[in-house]
Amino acid sequence: MALVFPSTHPLILHKLTALRAVKTEPAEFRRLVRSLAMLLAYEATADLPTNRVEVVTPLATAPGSAVADTIGIVPILRAGLGMADGVLDLIPEAQVWHVGLFRDEHTLRPTEYYNKLPTEPRVSLGLVVDPMLATGGSAVHACAVLRKAGIGRLKFLALIAAPEGIERLSQAYPDVPIHVGVIDESLNSIGFIVPGLGDAGDRQFATT
Ligand code: PRP
Repeated sequence: MALVFPSTHPLILHKLTALRAVKTEPAEFRRLVRSLAMLLAYEATADLPTNRVEVVTPLATAPGSAVADTIGIVPILRAGLGMADGVLDLIPEAQVWHVGLFRDEHTLRPTEYYNKLPTEPRVSLGLVVDPMLATGGSAVHACAVLRKAGIGRLKFLALIAAPEGIERLSQAYPDVPIHVGVIDESLNSIGFIVPGLGDAGDRQFATT
């Protein structure tokens, strides 16, 4: 069974509605991407393992918890950059690795143009972030890069997805949970999510 987790959180759904609106300008769009990424990461990290620790308070010693995972955030450039900021707000000590992909507008296939992973990755969980999961080609490519680099545990976080992208990613990597703000109806003939929000990279960086 596919591990797909569309959010039902009222704040996420509210902010996604604002994100979709054509009248939302780039500055507000970026703010929304950042806060949505933080909220989605909060949901996606609800099952992280913890270690028991002790903490010394000003008065005594108290039992506490420490996240056991070392986390890597992997934004798919360029639209994933805004999400990485939001996840870093939540997990400031995370490492950030960049994978640059662009989708050919005719073939819809991803082309890799940048890849900055450490030579010996030492994270136990990779959170791959990209606002859009359309055909799923970019997501599958990014997961392949990370698996090749030795990252066994991955989670994919997207703000908006098409059923086609969910299907493709979960077929290729059935063990990778997909946390998504909302799943839309379909892709149109040129590979855009409908009703969608347009192009998340262009809307963040005003390149329409
Ligand atoms: C968009 C989006 C994803 C990809 C999704 O990026 O941010 O990376 O397309 O499409 P797919 O699921 O069909 O692969 P784009 O290629 O437009 O690059 P950008 O981030 O530089 O805008």
